[in-house]
Amino acid sequence: MCRRKNILLTLGLHLCAVYAHEDSLLEVDFCQYYYRNPASSEPRYPDCSDVKAKVVSNETRTLPTLELGEPGAKALFFIHGWPDNAAMWAAQFAHFCFNGSFYCVAVTLANFHPDFPDADPDKELKITQQLIEIHQTMLEAHLVDPTLVVHDWGSVIGYEMLHRYPAVARQIISFDVGSTVSSESWKLNLTYQEQNREAWQQKNDSKSVGSAIYWEAPAPLRATWRTSWPYEYNLSYRGFIQHPYPPASVPLLFLWGNMTRGEPRQANTIFFGPHWLDFVRSTPHGRVVEVDSDHWMHVKSPRFVNNAISAWLNGY
Ligand SMILES: *[C@@H]1O[C@H](CO)[C@@H](O)[C@H](O)[C@H]1NC(C)=O
Ligand SMILES: *[C@@H]1O[C@H](CO)[C@@H](O)[C@H](O)[C@H]1NC(C)=O
Ligand SMILES: *[C@@H]1O[C@H](CO)[C@@H](O)[C@H](O)[C@H]1NC(C)=O
Ligand SMILES: *[C@@H]1O[C@H](CO)[C@@H](O)[C@H](O)[C@H]1NC(C)=O
Ligand SMILES: *[C@@H]1O[C@H](CO)[C@@H](O)[C@H](O)[C@H]1NC(C)=O
Ligand SMILES: *[C@@H]1O[C@H](CO)[C@@H](O)[C@H](O)[C@H]1NC(C)=O
Repeated sequence: MCRRKNILLTLGLHLCAVYAHEDSLLEVDFCQYYYRNPASSEPRYPDCSDVKAKVVSNETRTLPTLELGEPGAKALFFIHGWPDNAAMWAAQFAHFCFNGSFYCVAVTLANFHPDFPDADPDKELKITQQLIEIHQTMLEAHLVDPTLVVHDWGSVIGYEMLHRYPAVARQIISFDVGSTVSSESWKLNLTYQEQNREAWQQKNDSKSVGSAIYWEAPAPLRATWRTSWPYEYNLSYRGFIQHPYPPASVPLLFLWGNMTRGEPRQANTIFFGPHWLDFVRSTPHGRVVEVDSDHWMHVKSPRFVNNAISAWLNGY
């Protein structure tokens, strides 16, 4: 089924397939916002245009994906958070999948893809429905020995996926967001979530975009009102009772950035506490990596992050 906004509405289903390669996330976001080419030293990274040329946009999967590599290779499956999308993982695609070592598949969640129409809050935006659709997308891609790679709100989703669908991945690599329900995160400054709720209610892009600019998101203009659906709010109303932690039996690599807005990060901007780090270290092969970068460390410090992931994956 074709769900693309512009083409579906104006030209009809038939032309959908013809223009399916024109995915804004691949054409614009991948190289313009997210691939900060980590030049010079080893390993040498390819030019973004060379990586992009090999990436496949598949908009007929249950959720739209960007994919790179041989489907038979070991899989890395990526879930983004607010206000990003599948293109955010450009530097990980370049490091792990351009050379054929892994098969990268990244989804874009409902309302985060600019080419798709607004999702129905009581259908696609229900968190339980998002989980079903992510799972379905993973099955369709026939992933081999998958590792989940998750960031921000995608981390919360990833932890829950492992409870609901234990076969979905063997291990998980998570960025910046730990347990969000434990008492240790009480002091968190969640003003941006309040701003997002207002943006959503008023359909006011400048509120959510303003928040994304403040926090130095790599693609702040993608933070349109509809990406700010109140995901961390009214969760139980939306049929989502969150587990406090991911399953303790699943190997977990946790990376977090120790800076924000160019300054050492203050406690009230950190999405976890000491208990979370203890939990991470208690999982099999559990490891915590502190990165000299911010919330978007995998975009802004890709070399350090990619090398840390490689070391962990090779350390078994
Ligand atoms: C795109 O996804 C659909 C649905 O999962 C699948 O049938 C098709 O083979 C995929 N296309 C490519 C090029 O991988
Ligand atoms: C290519 O694959 C290997 C094996 O995982 C990895 O160590 C290497 O750094 C990869 N990427 C690049 C850009 O060389
Ligand atoms: C909380 O975050 C908002 C931006 O989302 C910022 O304007 C405000 O200054 C922060 N509050 C504190 C106490 O740091
Ligand atoms: C949208 O939000 C901005 C920033 O908070 C505000 O200045 C503006 O008045 C709002 N627009 C509307 C139509 O409410
Ligand atoms: C929050 O939940 C209440 C029902 O408990 C519902 O009436 C309201 O619309 C929900 N708000 C949002 C923003 O989802
Ligand atoms: C951030 O982490 C790096 C290690 O990756 C460390 O060298 C640096 O001192 C840390 N910065 C702060 C402000 O803690």
